[in-house]
Amino acid sequence: MTFSAQTWDTTQYAAHGRYVAAYGAAAVDLLAPQPGERILDAGCGDGVLTAQLAATGAILRGVDVSPAMLAGARARGIEADEASLTALPYDSEFDAVFSNAALHWIPADAQPAALACIYRALRPGGRFVAEMGGFANIAAIRAALSVVLAPHGLDAEALAASFYPTADHYRTLLEAAGFTVNQIEIIPRPTPLPDGPDGMTKWLETFRNGVLDLIPNPAARKQAVADTVALLKPILQDTQTQNWTADYIRLRFHATRT
Ligand code: BEZ
Repeated sequence: MTFSAQTWDTTQYAAHGRYVAAYGAAAVDLLAPQPGERILDAGCGDGVLTAQLAATGAILRGVDVSPAMLAGARARGIEADEASLTALPYDSEFDAVFSNAALHWIPADAQPAALACIYRALRPGGRFVAEMGGFANIAAIRAALSVVLAPHGLDAEALAASFYPTADHYRTLLEAAGFTVNQIEIIPRPTPLPDGPDGMTKWLETFRNGVLDLIPNPAARKQAVADTVALLKPILQDTQTQNWTADYIRLRFHATRT
């Protein structure tokens, strides 16, 4: 099982990836957290959304695989554990498991293990509400990166090791793990990036730094970013404002442990 080459730089993420938490609002609405409920934020990152959930009166616990991100979450007062979503240490402890923009970092062959862990973490009747990248997520960005990185001997798709399923595919996986799926849908969500004309450069440096760092020569790395940006310019950059929009597609669902 291959895990993503992504490495998390919390400063870079806070400066250029903050919108990820802001766009979690629809999933939070679907979760509808209640005061006193025990909720696990699976893939809590630096805890910005976890803290918002805690502000509703629910009792939050975070879990993430990145020590750097966990330090950020703990600095916000979030109780959080270091663990992969494929090896969670919980047993029937939570009324709900929530996850935003994390599950797609688990490769396809590891998804059943992650879903089994989440199922086990819930009490019977507990709910699992999540949003993740869906089928064809960031397709243009991924295609451009594949083309630019291939001459460096790098397979961008294999190294990203991400999983962007259709709704039918993920329903099958959820049901195989024992969940009842109450709602699941694909939602195209073109997402304006911060940073004006530098939006795509900053996105690549925030979310593809792990694979880009495999290019040892700094000048060649910089050129790879510039070449990727140039390929994407006619597709994802507004010619009037110079602002960038990323071709995000979400998969959002509500499932119940039976
Ligand atoms: C996503 O939320 O879909 C995503 C974010 C960063 C990199 C790849 C995917």
